[in-house]
Amino acid sequence: MNLALKEKLATYQKRVERGIEQLLPTASTRPERLHAAMRYSMEAGGKRIRPVLMIAASELFPSQADPLAAAVAIECLHTYTLIHDDLPSIDDSDLRRGRPSCHMQFDQATAVLAGDSLLTYAFQLLAGNYAQQPSLATGLIHDLATASSSERLIGGQMEDIDNEGKPIDAETLRYIHENKTGALLTAALTMGLRFCAPTIEQLQQIEAVGYHLGLTFQIVDDILDATSNAEELGKPVGNDSASDKSTYVALHGIDGAHREAKKHTAAALKNAEALGGNNAFLLDLIADLEHRIN
Ligand code: IPE
Ligand code: IPE
Ligand code: MG
Ligand code: MG
Ligand code: MG
Repeated sequence: MNLALKEKLATYQKRVERGIEQLLPTASTRPERLHAAMRYSMEAGGKRIRPVLMIAASELFPSQADPLAAAVAIECLHTYTLIHDDLPSIDDSDLRRGRPSCHMQFDQATAVLAGDSLLTYAFQLLAGNYAQQPSLATGLIHDLATASSSERLIGGQMEDIDNEGKPIDAETLRYIHENKTGALLTAALTMGLRFCAPTIEQLQQIEAVGYHLGLTFQIVDDILDATSNAEELGKPVGNDSASDKSTYVALHGIDGAHREAKKHTAAALKNAEALGGNNAFLLDLIADLEHRIN
């Protein structure tokens, strides 16, 4: 990543960190263990890709409100999915964001409930912070609820588990990646654009960006599970092959997975360019996500 992009990204990430600090219930709120667990997972320092993409999309055209509360909301929702994804009954993963995962640091019951609470809190943030602009609020709530629904993110998680240990076909694999990961990344972009009062056509165009970016993002996640190390990633490696997951690496090999990631990045860039507006930062981010190392 070039230095200018790195610095720009860091300023956006800091803004998100401050938003998380300010908008989440304090760790001393009753019940303390629950709120401490919510903050533990939220403050562990993820890359904040979804909130940053949301803010970048909100800056494409003149924006009608501050997207920070919505950016924190999507990070709450994402963090809930990570807490539940790591549970013994799902991916059984001990390390997340460089720390013991939530159920290891606390216990399984607390991790389930902290995840539930972050999911709900995301919608509290949206309804509470954008009540003055009802059509913006309903648009944001619609996008986040749809993306995280049983037919999108949770549907992807369900088929991810159902297909462990089975021979992989390309259509099922695309379904899993498009939904377990692509849906929320797409929502980050559509929600950001909603701050600019977009046309239906603009929303469809940014959805196409999200579709391709989401596939690249999960393909790279699959590649990193097979090629990186836990210190760099902040989560265990080799979990996918150990549990015989359906991944792009399993289906196409490392080189084939790289080729797929490249193809989808090019398609995401093409759609983001066609959208126009103040898109330099968004284009840089999309191009960089193919080459991320954690
Ligand atoms: C991890 O997401 C789960 C996937 C959808 C691949 P991230 O790679 O964005 O994780 P954090 O938020 O940086 O920890
Ligand atoms: C996670 O996919 C997708 C969601 C959490 C919704 P993975 O299971 O590959 O994510 P990591 O590798 O544990 O972060
Ligand atoms: Mg998983
Ligand atoms: Mg996992
Ligand atoms: Mg993974």
